[in-house]
Amino acid sequence: MGLDQLLEWIPAGGPEEALARQVMQDRLPRHVAIIMDGNGRWAGQRHLPRVEGHRAGIDAVRDVVEASARMGLEVLTLYAFSVENWKRPQAEVSTLMMLLKRYLRSELSTLLRNNIRFHVIGRTEALSTDVLDELRDAERKTATNTGMLFNIALNYGGRTEIVDAARRAMASGLDPQALDEQQFAGFLYTAGQPDPDLLIRTSGEMRVSNFLLWQIAYAEIWVTDTLWPDFRCRHLLEGVLAYQKRDRRFGGIAAPVAAGVK
Ligand code: FPP
Repeated sequence: MGLDQLLEWIPAGGPEEALARQVMQDRLPRHVAIIMDGNGRWAGQRHLPRVEGHRAGIDAVRDVVEASARMGLEVLTLYAFSVENWKRPQAEVSTLMMLLKRYLRSELSTLLRNNIRFHVIGRTEALSTDVLDELRDAERKTATNTGMLFNIALNYGGRTEIVDAARRAMASGLDPQALDEQQFAGFLYTAGQPDPDLLIRTSGEMRVSNFLLWQIAYAEIWVTDTLWPDFRCRHLLEGVLAYQKRDRRFGGIAAPVAAGVK
């Protein structure tokens, strides 16, 4: 996958093409993580129930997943449901779960066609069996795909993940004095994956909301006012282009991304 695959999929002559042609393929973020926010406000602006915002948000998920895979990202992580989201009204929670199941069923063919490997991160054991079965089924059916890894964060919390990793580290019998950052990362839900280079948040909020707290230590953050249901490939490209203009220092001295320093 790469820009050619993206260009053959987006409308020719439109704003997406102009943006895609500016992207430097050799400077792509390896991992993009997205906090999908603003579904409720999108619905409110249209005098619709909140769940209609989530329903519309599925179209954005579809577009962004395929665009990311075609662009050549290694990992895409979407924050779909946090450990705190159980506090929402029961009807909203069950609609979200129903939409997730429906998405997996209808989009499995897209995942397979685009060689995407699907993976769930979070305290999945707390999810209901029907949702869990659907998730595991999608993981199994895409397990041998070698293209983009698509993580969905479900019943996910960054602090919870760190606690779970600490428990696993303690249970592993490792000498606590020998434990270092690299080993600890191997106990996280994202073990073996590159950390996000780019964290995108929609709807203009300037918060990280307990998302991938360990992994975003050096991520570039890009916030757009666009509400999640309106987010498309075009916005993803805008985020990637903004990322490619950033100067990543990792605590060191200035060196432009374009000059080959990641
Ligand atoms: C935040 O908007 C969004 C969520 C809590 C859920 C995101 C879920 C989806 C887009 C659908 C299911 C996902 C997949 C991957 C199939 P909000 O409700 O907090 O919006 P608000 O801040 O405007 O109220």
